[in-house]
Amino acid sequence: MKFVALEKIIAESSAMKKTMQEIEKIARSHASIFLMGETGTGKEVIAKNIHALSERAGNAFIKVNCAAIPEPLIESEFFGHERGAFTGAMNRRLGRFELAHKGTLLLDEISEIPLGLQAKLLRVLQEQEFERVGGSESIRVDVRIISTSNRNMKETVAKKLFREDLYYRLNVVPIKLSPLRERFEDILPLAEYFLERLAEENQKPRVYLSAASKQRLLDYPWPGNIRELANVIERTVVMHSAATIEPEHLNLDPYPSCALPVGITLQELEKKYILDTLALQSGNRTKTAEVLGISTRTLRNKLHQYQIN
Ligand SMILES: Nc1ncnc2c1ncn2[C@@H]1O[C@H](COP(=O)(O)OP(=O)(O)OP(=O)(O)O)[C@@H](O)[C@H]1O
Ligand SMILES: [Mg+2]
Repeated sequence: MKFVALEKIIAESSAMKKTMQEIEKIARSHASIFLMGETGTGKEVIAKNIHALSERAGNAFIKVNCAAIPEPLIESEFFGHERGAFTGAMNRRLGRFELAHKGTLLLDEISEIPLGLQAKLLRVLQEQEFERVGGSESIRVDVRIISTSNRNMKETVAKKLFREDLYYRLNVVPIKLSPLRERFEDILPLAEYFLERLAEENQKPRVYLSAASKQRLLDYPWPGNIRELANVIERTVVMHSAATIEPEHLNLDPYPSCALPVGITLQELEKKYILDTLALQSGNRTKTAEVLGISTRTLRNKLHQYQIN
């Protein structure tokens, strides 16, 4: 069995510091945890750390990616099957619930499981026992459940794509991981951490970020969150052998800054926002006005006010 070690988590922002405190508090309980957050925000690494901090640390940490398993196979993946349960079932196979006994089961992208199986999962969670597919023996397991989703689960429940009763059972302790653009105090410490790790792994000298590069990283909206930041840093280090990384080495898409700068006046913010939108629309004023929801006349007046003609 693979031992899951505590992974280093960078947490400089107040949002992440709070999350880390919550994790330490709840790790030792048995409560089901629901981790919500956009792709790449660290749901899996947090789930592993919860396991590593819990009394279950010496037992299995099992992950099921609910979105990756073809629908007809999900039930047997979860609960296992007996020999001959269906065509091709040559041997008994243990499901992930059984493999996770006394440990932690990570139900990744839980929103993707079909409604029929949601009913079955709810029953298993309530009764703490199940049968393998094609079997009649009741199997009891002691499993701590951590679920993740990058969807808005309230909406998914409202659309009747996910059972409300199951959602409540899984969501005893909700943890929301903010997108990276909303915790910009973490951006540079994460970038430094990845640079350090890369230098160590490749036994190469440590590379540094210029002040302009740092600003570029802070301005970028990071739709792929921490995974994207790690990839950008790795790509940059691999592609450029410079000792100092300059903004052009980062090769980031020309997104407008969508992390809102704090500490400037509303008027300055409006100007920055309008100019960024204009740049994204390649200077096309009609499209810019459309995106901003104002008339081209208003846009012209505002640009005139900023002394841009
Ligand atoms: N706070 C953090 N400190 C250090 N590394 C982090 C942090 N958060 C995430 N990472 C790293 O970023 C990468 C992406 O994280 P992870 O796989 O946990 O994201 P995820 O939310 O599960 O993404 P997805 O929804 O796409 O599955 C991993 O390599 C992880 O180790
Ligand atoms: Mg994940």
